[in-house]
Parts: sequence; structure tokens; C-alpha cells
Amino acid sequence: MAAYRFDPKKLDKLNDLARLDDLVPDLMWDAFDAPDARTVVEVGAGTGMFAREFASRMDPSGVLYAVDAEPTMTAWMREHLSEGGGARIEVVDARAEALPFADETADLVYTVNLHHELDDPVRALAEALRILRPGAPIGVVDWKKEPTPKGPPVEHRAGAERIAEDLAQAGFAEVRAVPVLRYHDVVVGRKPLA
Ligand SMILES: C[S@@+](CC[C@H](N)C(=O)[O-])C[C@H]1O[C@@H](n2cnc3c(N)ncnc32)[C@H](O)[C@@H]1O
Repeated sequence: MAAYRFDPKKLDKLNDLARLDDLVPDLMWDAFDAPDARTVVEVGAGTGMFAREFASRMDPSGVLYAVDAEPTMTAWMREHLSEGGGARIEVVDARAEALPFADETADLVYTVNLHHELDDPVRALAEALRILRPGAPIGVVDWKKEPTPKGPPVEHRAGAERIAEDLAQAGFAEVRAVPVLRYHDVVVGRKPLA
């Protein structure tokens, strides 16, 4: 089945602050378990709603790279995304499958509602693995594979089990679901130490 793509024309929907009632930033940030991260990469950042939230929880010496493949999104972030304290946000035009970062430089990589849009999720996760430092975490948040009041068609969603399989196939260890959100799975893993 072809991946389900978010329509950039619906950008306003992404910016709806009511989303934070379901995608609770504190619960996701705790699940990612990287409280001291200084270099964080969000892949598929959209309008940067979560980049802003998580940057505000980071040390001011840190940087959060908000990556998106869609020029409409990166242009919007560059024009409108205000920083809310904490780490600096850098907007980056790139695809999940070819991230412009050196090997083993990131302390945390995370995605929100991206996994179901990827044509080759294992390839994208392997690219995240490449840029993470040994032992560093990844967090994948995406719609539960069950009916919810909002979200993409259920048949296009991956679900926690599939996301966990993709993470393991890409080379991540300690993969587990953290059941903290109402409508979304949060699946975490770590780059092996050796
Ligand atoms: C549903 S939106 C979610 C945006 C943001 N994470 C949020 O939850 O507010 C998915 C985003 O991923 C981006 N995207 C889709 N495929 C991508 C890829 N292969 N590489 C990088 N970004 C991608 C889209 O352009 C879109 O902005």
C-alpha cells in the first residue's frame, strides 16, 4: 500500500494547539528518556509544534534540528516558528532517508506522526541509527492502529507492533512501547553500545 501523505495545504491543522491535549509533550519527552540531550533531531517536523515544545525543555546550550522534506513546511517554520526558550532551533531541508548530519552526533532522534508516511521506514530508521551516538535513544510517535476521532485512515497506520519490528530491523535495541498517550503509540529504542 502506498504511504499516506500529509497534504501541506492543511498546514493549519498541524498548528492546532488542541493537538497538545492528545500529544502531551511532557509525557512524550519523559518517554524519550534523554533529559540531558544537547543535540536533538526531529525528522518530519512539519510546522515545528513539537520542535518548539521539546527545545523549551532542553538546555540553552543545545540545538534542536527541525528536519522536513517539504519546502512548504520548512519555509513556514523559518518564517513563523518562534523559539520558546531553551535550546536553539535550526530548520533543515532534508529527507528522513538522507540526513545531513555526521555519524554518531545526535543525543536523541524522534518523530511524531511521520512513520506512516514513510515509503521505506526501515531505511529511514537506519539513517537515524547512523547519526545517533551509541546508547542514545530514538522515539517514534504515531497514530494507534485503531479508530480514533481524528487521524489518517486506519489501514494506513503502522501500529506499535510494526513500528517496533521496524526499529529492531533497523538495528535498534531495547525496543519497547510506552503506553502514555490516548490515540498514539510511543515506541522507543536505543542505538546499541557496541
Ligand atoms: C503529519 S506531518 C507531522 C508533522 C509534525 N511532526 C507534527 O506532528 O506536527 C508529517 C511531516 O513529515 C514530513 N515528511 C514526510 N515524509 C518525509 C520524509 N521522507 N522525510 C522528511 N520529512 C517527511 C511531511 O512533509 C510533514 O511535514
